[in-house]
Amino acid sequence: MKICNTISELNTWRNAVSTQNIGFVPTMGALHAGHLSLVEESKKQCAQTVVSIFVNELQFSPEEDFDKYPRTLEDDLSALKLLEVDVVFLPTAKEMYNENFSVVVNEINISKKLEGVSRPGFFAGVTTVVSKLFNLVQPSHAFFGQKDIQQLVIIKHMVHNLNYNIKVVGCDTIREKSGLAMSSRNQYLSAQQKEQSAIIYQALQLGKNMILKNQKYSTILHAMGKKIKEGKCLKVDYLSIADALFLDELSDQDSLGDMIIEKSVVISCAVYCNEVRLIDNVVIHG
Ligand code: PAJ
Repeated sequence: MKICNTISELNTWRNAVSTQNIGFVPTMGALHAGHLSLVEESKKQCAQTVVSIFVNELQFSPEEDFDKYPRTLEDDLSALKLLEVDVVFLPTAKEMYNENFSVVVNEINISKKLEGVSRPGFFAGVTTVVSKLFNLVQPSHAFFGQKDIQQLVIIKHMVHNLNYNIKVVGCDTIREKSGLAMSSRNQYLSAQQKEQSAIIYQALQLGKNMILKNQKYSTILHAMGKKIKEGKCLKVDYLSIADALFLDELSDQDSLGDMIIEKSVVISCAVYCNEVRLIDNVVIHG
């Protein structure tokens, strides 16, 4: 496994590599089974796999957890080595953003919805770093988790709008046995908080079943909100039922049962467990 700490080391590898079938998995480290499932998918589909680990300050607001974000580099590298990853890119912040850095990549529609309301600037940070990483790695395939559905949707639009010749592959959400979606931020939760947070997935499943029974939009959101209230430490930031292409919110005017025949529908939410913000979703495919 080759470790590149600088852009110039990565360029040397990229210029010498013989295949054009390169899979790329961008991460911020603190790797868990969710991240590793993306790596496994890349290994299946591609001749070479590159993983980046970079805690991207540009996507954290000043009051967010950039300083205390979990960093477990040694364990991460051991896990990637076991999976026989070809290249790990570990750039420094200085390497990615020099002092004259002044150009960002900004998606201006989907970024404003859902997560964008609570985290303005977050997706501009994501699209900027992912665009830079795409330019550096020049992959044929890039693997992203459905866990961060809005990020996945925005990256797909970025690739299409900016004419990247990259196939974006969305991979299923990996969950704990309890149903709680795996996340690097789950490390902030106590055992009891994790138990209560498992209710989030139960609420999403409830929503899915109600859609399949063609129940009304507002009835479903109400029932999901009530379910989440069963977790004493949980507080809803948002609950949404939207179309899967642009994440446009649906309404009582939409017949959800009919809708999913035409398009896929995403039920998504952000829920605080005390001060830890958790996101999750389920997609109902059309
Ligand atoms: P990070 O949170 O480290 O996630 C890296 C990738 O792992 C993302 O595509 C994310 O959706 C996926 N992932 C996280 N939890 C998952 C789970 N439980 N199941 C399946 N996939 C999961 O997302 C980022 O980093 C950053 O925004 C990044 C794209 C690297 C840009 O900085």
